[in-house]
Amino acid sequence: MKKKMIAGNWKMNGDVATALDIIAGITDAANQSQHDVVIAPPFVYLSLAAEKILSSKIQLGAQNLADQEVGAYTGEISAKMLADVGCQYVLVGHSERRQLYGETDLLVAQKTILALENGLVPILCVGETLEERESNQWKDVITTQLLSVVDHCGIDAFKNIIVAYEPVWAIGTGKSASADIANEVHEFIYYTLSCKSDNIRPSLKVLYGGSVTAENSAQYMSQEYIDGVLVGGASLKPSVFSEIIRSVE
Ligand code: 13P
Repeated sequence: MKKKMIAGNWKMNGDVATALDIIAGITDAANQSQHDVVIAPPFVYLSLAAEKILSSKIQLGAQNLADQEVGAYTGEISAKMLADVGCQYVLVGHSERRQLYGETDLLVAQKTILALENGLVPILCVGETLEERESNQWKDVITTQLLSVVDHCGIDAFKNIIVAYEPVWAIGTGKSASADIANEVHEFIYYTLSCKSDNIRPSLKVLYGGSVTAENSAQYMSQEYIDGVLVGGASLKPSVFSEIIRSVE
């Protein structure tokens, strides 16, 4: 059976005390899980988190990375630095980066390449806005976002890329996509990538993100094409995130 993934994106929240509290509060659930449990704290807490999770099964991810390798890029953090402090994963192309910081498909592809070159597993976020869903453009939007990375990295790179479907209208809104809608989009993502290569399917993982809670996580996890969840707000509450981890069979 394919391992599932439960990932928590803390976004720009918390402080040292919160970080320690979350890690301590989810360690038991993570250690008892058969699946991959990942936290993505803000950059400044990554080293601390890396130290604290050493004797647990929790894995570490970052929320973003620079689109350059090294040099005079004030304020940026490179893929190599993330690997150096113990990250195994990095979110790429989160809708908040695309919408608030103008990240284009090309930039997202460049970051994906750098992540892969430095041994990180990119968690490539894709998803449509409410307007795009209502005008039935979601397939086009997701195809463009995926194929940009396929064009720049090659389809085989998807053996080491995790895809996260995060409908923009469901992020932080409390209005989650129904399990049926999410599963339909995930099936479409599987289909789109499988059309490029039949080897992709067995290793592909597609996570759902957008207002995941302890109440709805099991519904997502039981869907055929949903291989895990990417949790925002609920990942800041250790007891809730632990429940989400435990909701995966
Ligand atoms: P919420 O779970 O807060 O809706 O955020 C989802 C998300 O953006 C995870 O990356």
